[in-house]
Amino acid sequence: RKRVLSGIQPSGKLTLGNYIGAMKNYVALQEEAECFYMIVDLHAITVAQEPAALREQTESVAALFVAAGVDPKQASIFVQSHVPAHAELGWMMTTLSYMGELERMTQFKDKSEGKDAVGAGLFVYPSLMAADILLYKADLVPVGDDQKQHLELTRDLAGRFNHRFGDTLVVPEPFIPKVGARIMSLDDASKKMSKSSPNAGSFIALLDSPDDIRKKISRAKTDLGREVVYDPREKPEISNLLSIYSNCSGESIAEIQARYEGQGYGAFKKDLAERVVETLEPLQRKYAEIRASGAIHDILRDGAERANAVAEQTLREAKEAMGFLLPR
Ligand code: TYM
Repeated sequence: RKRVLSGIQPSGKLTLGNYIGAMKNYVALQEEAECFYMIVDLHAITVAQEPAALREQTESVAALFVAAGVDPKQASIFVQSHVPAHAELGWMMTTLSYMGELERMTQFKDKSEGKDAVGAGLFVYPSLMAADILLYKADLVPVGDDQKQHLELTRDLAGRFNHRFGDTLVVPEPFIPKVGARIMSLDDASKKMSKSSPNAGSFIALLDSPDDIRKKISRAKTDLGREVVYDPREKPEISNLLSIYSNCSGESIAEIQARYEGQGYGAFKKDLAERVVETLEPLQRKYAEIRASGAIHDILRDGAERANAVAEQTLREAKEAMGFLLPR
């Protein structure tokens, strides 16, 4: 069976972008592969987090995984800091990473731009992410388009490790959706939809109420003209809404385009809002159930136990290969 590993940061509210770009594929892969899905709290602290909020968000994201359809019996859901091997292999990967390659990471450039105090953790963030993936010898990593560059670095680091110390780690492949790999902001299709945006109207949070969703979609920016056609260059705003529609309804872009031919943006947006509401309502209902049941702690304990077993084994192999004296 193939191995799958992925993670989401517990910072801010998860958005429809996280769902379409990553979580939908978590669910799609869980039957055929051995899956590990984690909440990356060690990554979240690379920018300042309020302790109470971090704790709450960590639990919330775990519940959202389950609510989105990840089955804790099939897949292991765990918190990164519950598996100490991440920090250890993360350090080892940091020592193998070059300043130059980390400086080229666009996520680092975006997050550090214009700031006068940039935390060192933000810089070595991709080395820790590489360790996350390599610890599980993952074959596939379901992510959105924005993580492609980090995956490239992970592949380089795995290759570098194997070249220097002998074949130990597996070189992973990204698993990126064909439609929806990059869901854009509702107020500006040149920016990706992001949970950290200061404008709440620019993203749909997974826990937004149906009325908020309708409001946000009716206010979403559109392009000149009135034809609902998929053309990311000439009609970036409508194209983004079309990929959201396609992901929520399961229909192809061509089918949707044909339905709204000659109808203009208004009818399309109204229906789109309903497709999004229909997608998120069952998820929200399940989320409320799980939070109320308190079951998440057991799920995370089981998940961490399974994750630790795999991660500790790989860490031992990597330490031995690098020349660490193992305790006897
Ligand atoms: P994060 O927490 O920013 O996002 C979680 C996942 O959601 C995807 N995503 C999107 N997909 C489509 N459209 C969008 N607008 C959008 N916004 C976010 C992301 O691509 C990601 O798959 N570095 C990672 C977390 C991480 C990780 C890992 C991922 C840490 N270790 C190991 C995979 C494997 C991150 O910041 O994701």
